[in-house]
This record gives sequence, structure tokens and C-alpha cells, in this order.
Amino acid sequence: LPPVITVDGPSGSGKGTICRLLANALGWSLLDSGALYRLTAVAARHHGVSLDDVESLQVMAAHLDVQFLSESADGELKIILEGEEVTQTIRTENVGADASVVAALGPVRQALLQRQRDFAQLPGLIADGRDMGTVVFPEACLKIYLDASAEERASRRYNQLISKGLSASLEDILIDIKSRDDRDMNRTVAPLKPAPNAVILDTTKMTIEEVLEVVLDEAKH
Ligand code: CDP
Repeated sequence: LPPVITVDGPSGSGKGTICRLLANALGWSLLDSGALYRLTAVAARHHGVSLDDVESLQVMAAHLDVQFLSESADGELKIILEGEEVTQTIRTENVGADASVVAALGPVRQALLQRQRDFAQLPGLIADGRDMGTVVFPEACLKIYLDASAEERASRRYNQLISKGLSASLEDILIDIKSRDDRDMNRTVAPLKPAPNAVILDTTKMTIEEVLEVVLDEAKH
């Protein structure tokens, strides 16, 4: 089985950035599992499927017509859903909120399980998500759990949006982050929590470079 490093944690903990850097540094492939939940939410909107229609959402998740294309040198993936580029569209706060609603549904998670496992390939996989270490890749060779205070995570998300030239309200983002934390941690299926053998890092006062260094060091062991 190809080696897998799992990186789990709440919204804004820096998982996305760290996973991209890790994948580049090791030359491994990358699974952005959150994108699959975001894509399911977007596909539902496209097809007029309501977010409480569990059966249709499950079918939708099982048949997601999606391609992840690695095109740019920095490892950013281009995402195509049903032939249409949605790389930017799926990153909005609205889609994130919808994603956490569909992600609370057991049948949707089940429908996406094998698709996620299929990303594992040689020389290795970096898996970014909420349940990578607990459910999807319980045999992973290294499990990381990134955390940070809600305030710090909100301000990172805020700066991210501002730097892209988008308008944002720090207060609204903090409210959104807290409600997403609440949904992700308190759902009955695959709630967000560290795997028993995970290395837990509180990144509140750490730079990306510092986090990367610690994780690469763990990966060498
Ligand atoms: O980047 P951010 O943390 O805001 O979001 P994401 O990682 O793209 O995930 C979006 C939503 O999908 C999360 O709030 C979770 O509810 C859900 N998700 C999940 O349940 N399990 C995963 N493995 C990944 C994401």
C-alpha cells in the first residue's frame, strides 16, 4: 500500500497550504477531501437538489463528474466539474457552509469514501481533511492534527480573502468558522477530532514555515 500522511483539523488551521507544500516537498500526490464535499454541494445547486434530499445527494456524490488537473508549478490544482472549471467557485464561504451541511450526512460520506482511497498512489499521498486519520486512512504512516484558536483562524481566512481582492468581514468570518466548527465536531458521523495516534500541533503562534518544518521532521522518522 502506498504511504499516506493525513492532515486533519478545523477550518483555517492551515491544512490546505501545509498539504500543498508537503506534497511539493516530498513529490507526493495530494487529496483535498474538502473539495469533494464542496463539489457535492455545488453539483446539488446546479441540479436543483435540496440540501436535505439525502438520497439525491448520495447519488450525486457517488457520480460526481470531476477532474483534478495539476497544471501550475506551485501545485495548485485546477478543478473541473461536469466540464466546467470551478476552481474559484468552490472556495466561497457559502459553498463552504453548504459543504459542511452535506458532509454531516452519512450516506454522502459513504459515497465519497472509495473515491478518496483511490487517490493513494506511489510514491505517496498527502490527505487533507477532517477524518483522514480517523476514517479514510486509519493505517496512515503519519497523522497530523492542525489546530489554532478560532480568532486566529478567522483572521487568516480574512487576510486570504482580502489578498485576493475580495471584500470580507472579520466578524462574519468568525461567526461562520464557529458554526462550522460546531457542525463538524458535533455531527454523529465522522466528527472532527484527532486520531488517537495523531501528532497535534497548535499553530496559533506558528508561521507556515515553522509548521512545515515540524511536519517534515516527523515525516522523516
Ligand atoms: O478550507 P476549509 O477548512 O474551510 O474547508 P474544506 O476543508 O474545504 O471543507 C469544507 C467542509 O467539508 C468542512 O467544513 C467539513 O464540514 C467538510 N469536510 C468533511 O466533513 N470531511 C473532510 N474530510 C473534509 C471536509
